[in-house]
Amino acid sequence: MDFTAELKRHVARVERGLDQFVPRADTRPSRLHTAMRYSLEAGGKRLRPVLLVATAELFGTRDDSPLAAGKADALAAAVALECVHTYSLIHDDLPCMDNDDLRRGRPTAHKQFDEATALLAGDALLTHAFALLGENYPDPLAATLVRELANAAGSRHLIGGQMEDLLAEKKSDATPDELEFIHLNKTAAMIEAALVMGGLIGQANEDAITTLRRAGRHLGLAFQIVDDILDATSDTATLGKTAGKDLKAGKTTFVKLHGLDASRRFAQTNTQSAAEALRTLPGDASFLTWLGTSLGSRPK
Ligand code: IPE
Ligand code: IPE
Ligand code: MG
Ligand code: MG
Ligand code: MG
Repeated sequence: MDFTAELKRHVARVERGLDQFVPRADTRPSRLHTAMRYSLEAGGKRLRPVLLVATAELFGTRDDSPLAAGKADALAAAVALECVHTYSLIHDDLPCMDNDDLRRGRPTAHKQFDEATALLAGDALLTHAFALLGENYPDPLAATLVRELANAAGSRHLIGGQMEDLLAEKKSDATPDELEFIHLNKTAAMIEAALVMGGLIGQANEDAITTLRRAGRHLGLAFQIVDDILDATSDTATLGKTAGKDLKAGKTTFVKLHGLDASRRFAQTNTQSAAEALRTLPGDASFLTWLGTSLGSRPK
């Protein structure tokens, strides 16, 4: 399989889905819909939606697959996931949070518009995600997807991780356990949800869902460790967001607590654990394994 071409196919489909499933910029109030699309259309790796659609295809949701009959299309759920992710970035960048000026190579939403518009665009993207799940999936799948996404994005996971990330700022005695809580929740939970939602749409059995959960958790932890490494080692032009911010803000990161070498080892160990889990799935998970592994050496 040509993995790079496969990635391109998935990204292109997700981009089309974003255009299809998000209200047009001229929808009233156009300032709000323009801001939602501004942040969504700025690019981004589309990792979470690609993981979702690729996992769903593993379980036969492609139209040309003999297993496809009766299975829902994964695209609307992939867009929902990217909407929640983009909302989390808009709010993460606000002055009251990480106070960043640059995101996805563009001025952040509150710089381009204003704080109130950025806040509302984030709120609207978050809400829209659940409307998409409700509108595009039959019961009881819709309810299962809503529960999965709400849980990953909620107070015990993404938002809880963001809260502890802020509480740990400038903290000189943050422990490895606290750091792991932050990373597992602010980042890994949504990557776990990507694989699990893909599996749910593909009607994967309970064992496979458990395996997807484990793989996603490891992949997500590795992903945030690499994000910490890139913040410390890369430059703003490459990242499309301000490099060196974590050190400046006194963030508790893997690099701060464990140093660069150990961080690279942690990332690699988690990537391997994800690959081992993926190998036990029925079907050919080689694309997912390749994608997971490639994230370890991603430039941004
Ligand atoms: C950035 O996520 C925030 C983290 C959880 C590290 P991504 O690195 O996936 O950002 P985009 O979507 O490609 O912009
Ligand atoms: C962001 O973590 C996690 C979420 C947005 C939920 P970071 O604050 O490290 O992400 P970047 O580095 O700004 O993309
Ligand atoms: Mg942050
Ligand atoms: Mg940030
Ligand atoms: Mg970061």
